[in-house]
Parts: sequence; C-alpha cells; structure tokens
Amino acid sequence: MTSPTTLPLADPVLAERIAGRLDRVEERLRSAVEYADPLVDDVAHHLSNAGGKRLRPLLTLLAAELGDGAREEVLDAAVVVELTHLASLYHDDVMDSAPMRRGAPAAHAVWGNNVAILVGDLLFARASTTVAHLGPEAVLIQAGTFERLCLGQLHESIGPGDDGDPVQHYLQVLADKTASLIATSARLGAMYGGCAPDVVETVAAFGERIGVAFQLADDVLDLASEGVVSGKTPGTDLREGVPTMPVLLLRERAAAEGDPDDVALVARLDGDLSDDLVLAEVVTALSAHPVVHETRERALTLVSEAVDLLAPLPDGPVKESFVSFADALVNRAS
Ligand code: IPE
Ligand code: IPE
Ligand code: MG
Ligand code: MG
Repeated sequence: MTSPTTLPLADPVLAERIAGRLDRVEERLRSAVEYADPLVDDVAHHLSNAGGKRLRPLLTLLAAELGDGAREEVLDAAVVVELTHLASLYHDDVMDSAPMRRGAPAAHAVWGNNVAILVGDLLFARASTTVAHLGPEAVLIQAGTFERLCLGQLHESIGPGDDGDPVQHYLQVLADKTASLIATSARLGAMYGGCAPDVVETVAAFGERIGVAFQLADDVLDLASEGVVSGKTPGTDLREGVPTMPVLLLRERAAAEGDPDDVALVARLDGDLSDDLVLAEVVTALSAHPVVHETRERALTLVSEAVDLLAPLPDGPVKESFVSFADALVNRAS
C-alpha cells in the first residue's frame, strides 16, 4: 500500500484517491512482469520488487485528474510508463556498470549482462503489449518516447564531438533520455483522462521541463547522497566517466579560467578512480565545488519555468499538486 502522506501532492483528499489508484497500478504491474520460466520471472520481478518511487505512474494519475482520473485506460497508461522506465533501468545499469539499484544489487551484478539486457528487452515487449490495449495513438507516442530514450542514451555515450558545446549537448541528452518519458507520463494521463488537446500539450510541456530538472538533481545525488538513502552507489557516474552536469561545468570553468585547483580536480577526474578511497576523495572535492550549486540552480530555474507553463490550467488541488510534485523532484534524497 502507498501511504498518501508519502506522496508529494498538495491536497490530502486527492493524495488519498491517487494512492488507491497507485495500488491498482501496482497490481497490474506485478502481473505484467510475470513469466512462466522461473528464472526469467525472478529477474523480471527483481527491480520492481526492490522498490522505486513510481513517480512516472504518479504523474500519469495526477494529469488524468484534470479530466476523469477514474478511467480504466489511465491505469494502463500508468503501467506502460513504469514498465518502460523499469526496462530502461536494466539496460542503464549495464551501460553504467552500476553495482546497485533501488537498494538491491543491479540485475547484471547478479545474473550477468546478457540476462539483464534480455530481461530489459522482455519488459519493453510487455510495455508494448499493454500499450496496444490503448490503441494506435498511444503506440505511436510510446514508440516515439522509446526512440528518444535510446537516442539520449546513445548521444550520452557518443559525446558532443569536437565542434559541439558539451553543456548544450548534455541538456539535449537529458531531455531525450529522461524528460521524454516524464513528458509522456503526463501526456498519456491527460489524454486518457479525456482532457482537451491544449491541456494535454500543457502538461506534456511541463513534464518535459521537470524531466530535465529531475535528471540534473540526479547528477547532484550521485555526488551528494548516501548510498543507503538513494539506493544507488555514490560516484558511479564519475568512476565510469559517465558525463554529469557538475563535471561538464567544472571542465568548462577549468578551461576558461584556469584556476589551478579546478585544473587539478579535472586531472583527478580523468585519472584512475577504481580505488574506493580515491573515488570517495574526488566525490567529496567535487560535491563541495560551486558547480554543484550551479547545477542545482539550473534545476530550480527549470522547475520555475515548468510551473509558469501551468498558468492556463484551472486553479485548484491538481495544479497545486503539480507544483509540489515538481518541487519534490528536485528536493529529493533518493
Ligand atoms: C532513475 O529514475 C533514472 C533516472 C532517469 C534518473 P528514478 O529516480 O525515478 O528511479 P526509481 O524508479 O525511483 O528507482
Ligand atoms: C538513467 O540515467 C536514464 C535512463 C534510465 C534512461 P542515469 O544513468 O543518469 O540514471 P541513474 O543515476 O543510473 O539512475
Ligand atoms: Mg545510470
Ligand atoms: Mg546512464
């Protein structure tokens, strides 16, 4: 059961109603990841059983409240976005060599890369099965989102190239790999709640902004969080050389201003971080650097722009909850 008090929603009555629906989404999610083969079943349940915040289904249910949130299709839409997210996590942890996810060992750490990748694919297939029930428009939206997600991960891996601006390139990566699905979570909720097209576009645009802010907050969490709280291993991105906004801003500063401390920190980041103690020192040094504050400021600016986009929506508990949801995304500890 999801306690309404844990939901980042402004209104307790609304939170209660959404908590009830989230429980129904959870039941559907559990059956959506069932497989006859016991090993496959184990791996497929591994991450959904381990935890997770269910922010995407929550956003779908919340957006649907702008219309008729009780429709059955809304629940299916919420399952689709969480399944898509879940599948992407199996793949992401392989790509990032992340040892831990949702407080549990990452799937590849238990069963190996091949199994983790293939089970991720199976879950993408199940997301497709569920979205098919919603009809061709939803299938197109989900396919477009999945494409952006893959392109985001690809462009993150490939980098900006010699002529590209690394920060601008990275913002596009974040929009594609993360914000696309958050925008779709809001879009499908409003669509299947029967909202007017302008409302659907408003919540999707809101989702796109808070999605980038959410991923910037994630970059800060990689440095500033306790593993026991975040369920992930701090410094994972640094160790693997996965770009994050604080590191890109530091590189930009070091190149432009040449401060010797910044240049030295960049050299350490580019060095061998396989030793836990060395990694911990670099995490500590970077987490105290002003670039972390700058990353957070960028996230807060995006949230405030996202909230401004909500202006055309009617005032009331749903709109207020969008605001508290956005705040919670950038002020989270996990
Ligand atoms: C993690 O997403 C992946 C990112 C896009 C940063 P969440 O932080 O929503 O992960 P869970 O679902 O709560 O585990
Ligand atoms: C995750 O990005 C994005 C997707 C799963 C598509 P990250 O690699 O930055 O997220 P975490 O920190 O592992 O959750
Ligand atoms: Mg990762
Ligand atoms: Mg990644």
